Amino acid sequence: MKEIEIIKPDDWHVHFRDNEILKAVVPETSRHFARAIVMPNLMPPILTGNDANEYKKKINKAIPNKDNFNPFMTIYLTENTDKNDLKQSYLNNLVFAAKLYPAGATTNSDSGVQNVSKIMPILETMAKIGMPLLIHGESTDRNVDIFDREKIFLETTLGFIYKELPNLKITLEHITTQEATLFVKNANKNIAASITPHHLALNRNAIFHNGINPHHYCLPILKREHHRKALIEVATSGNPKFFLGTDTAPHLQHDKENACGCAGIFNSTYTISILSQIFENYDALENLENFVSINGAKHYKLETNKTKIKIIKKTNPIKFKKYLKIGTEKLVIFYPNFEIFWEVKL
Ligand code: NCD
Ligand code: ZN
Repeated sequence: MKEIEIIKPDDWHVHFRDNEILKAVVPETSRHFARAIVMPNLMPPILTGNDANEYKKKINKAIPNKDNFNPFMTIYLTENTDKNDLKQSYLNNLVFAAKLYPAGATTNSDSGVQNVSKIMPILETMAKIGMPLLIHGESTDRNVDIFDREKIFLETTLGFIYKELPNLKITLEHITTQEATLFVKNANKNIAASITPHHLALNRNAIFHNGINPHHYCLPILKREHHRKALIEVATSGNPKFFLGTDTAPHLQHDKENACGCAGIFNSTYTISILSQIFENYDALENLENFVSINGAKHYKLETNKTKIKIIKKTNPIKFKKYLKIGTEKLVIFYPNFEIFWEVKL
């Protein structure tokens, strides 16, 4: 039996949803993570500091007493975002960052931004006050192939924002391509990227293995193997520009196993086990802590957490539970296509 101890991780990208799903999934994150950035793509979205504050109260209520967990709130940018509210909410610590969804790029993104030039004054304000911009980096041009949408976004939109506002702190979220790793590596220190466990674990074959697998469908969609390898390379290298954002995105089982299944993978429950296995498989366990506990905090100019967690390697593969029950409904928990021997000791 092998055991490692690392600084308690943070998750820099989660979807907690609302109501019964929120109550069920918040403990899945708060069990292993000290802090998380909470996405604002509810229906309707979190548009103001006040919305964020009300949402934060619901999240705080759902945290089990035993857990010491801090949710960081975000505002959903639109072409009508109130610049003053955004600024005040940030300066008063009500919100931590703003999220840019290109309109229609993903789940609940209909009220997102059509034309980035319209929000440049908001982005300028954010650059001035040091407020981070979180980006869902996919082109929404329906003529662009779904597997090329991230690459095209880098060329058309991110390149533009970066050139205009090199001082803006940007997180390119849940990157999936070699091109994104190169963009971030070559950019200045203000640009970093988050990576999910599923994009490290799987390539696009997993969506179609032995039939169509809705539980491996997410956005940005899984890519070819050489892209997954590029993500593995940056994540396991210790490079401080790359860190964990799980993008845990729960949808009820029947909304995934559906003629028009929702995009999103619910992975918070076993993320740390899965990442420990991946880092061990690539002989990089010594960089796990950088990826899950240090790099993100540094990018956001935060202290790393004071507490630690232990992760233990068992002699037999671990049998994980398949579902999280919500009343009579279920969420299917992400599991990759290889065995996992690592378990977080609580
Ligand atoms: C997310 C969701 O369901 O809210 N879905 C996903 O596939 N990742 C939205 C997102 O982060 O793109
Ligand atoms: Zn997401």
